[in-house]
Amino acid sequence: MTPSLKKTYLNIARCKDCPDLRTDCWARGEGNPTADIVLIGESPGQVEASKHRPFVGPAGRLLRKTLKQAGIPVEAVYLTNVVKCWPQNKDLLTDTHAQKCARFLHFELKQVQPDLVVCLGRFAFESLIHEPVEHMADFDKIWLQRRILGLDRKVNVCLMYHPAAALRHKPYLDAFREQMEWLSRQWEWGTGNLQDLSFEKVIFSRSII
Ligand code: URA
Repeated sequence: MTPSLKKTYLNIARCKDCPDLRTDCWARGEGNPTADIVLIGESPGQVEASKHRPFVGPAGRLLRKTLKQAGIPVEAVYLTNVVKCWPQNKDLLTDTHAQKCARFLHFELKQVQPDLVVCLGRFAFESLIHEPVEHMADFDKIWLQRRILGLDRKVNVCLMYHPAAALRHKPYLDAFREQMEWLSRQWEWGTGNLQDLSFEKVIFSRSII
């Protein structure tokens, strides 16, 4: 953990900006501080919030297992969430929470400097890209190159299924696995290079929840 990430995690622990969330129950980011790929979820669940670590509950275990099965070493990537505190009820999460928490994600992305940001589910995608998924899906474009918060250059951003959705619905699980396998094939492991993804592409034409 770099000193700058450590400072960000201390600030997450101290933040009380959203009194309607459990601000005593939070999860920081975790993983390779210079990862080429950052995966971003919505907010921690109860297990994550009690351990202060992202993606360590049931959905997180599925994510970690699927990454591994696809040949993506989990220790090579960086995992985090848009909102760092446990909402207790995910339906309560709003754009305001995402906006208030954005500075932490901003610092994490600035520090890690990824080449690819994987948004797990629509909340993460819409918080970063500020365009509704429906609009994106109209064009079947869920692989984009955008300037996003924390980065002063364009970065690859893609949208994939959230592992919690994959846990609930078998068709999403199949699609989630397929997406991770696809991602792994695009990555030249050992060289640190994404294959030619320098333009916007149609990748997965299925609709994403
Ligand atoms: N769901 C998320 O979006 N993030 C986590 O860390 C765990 C579950």
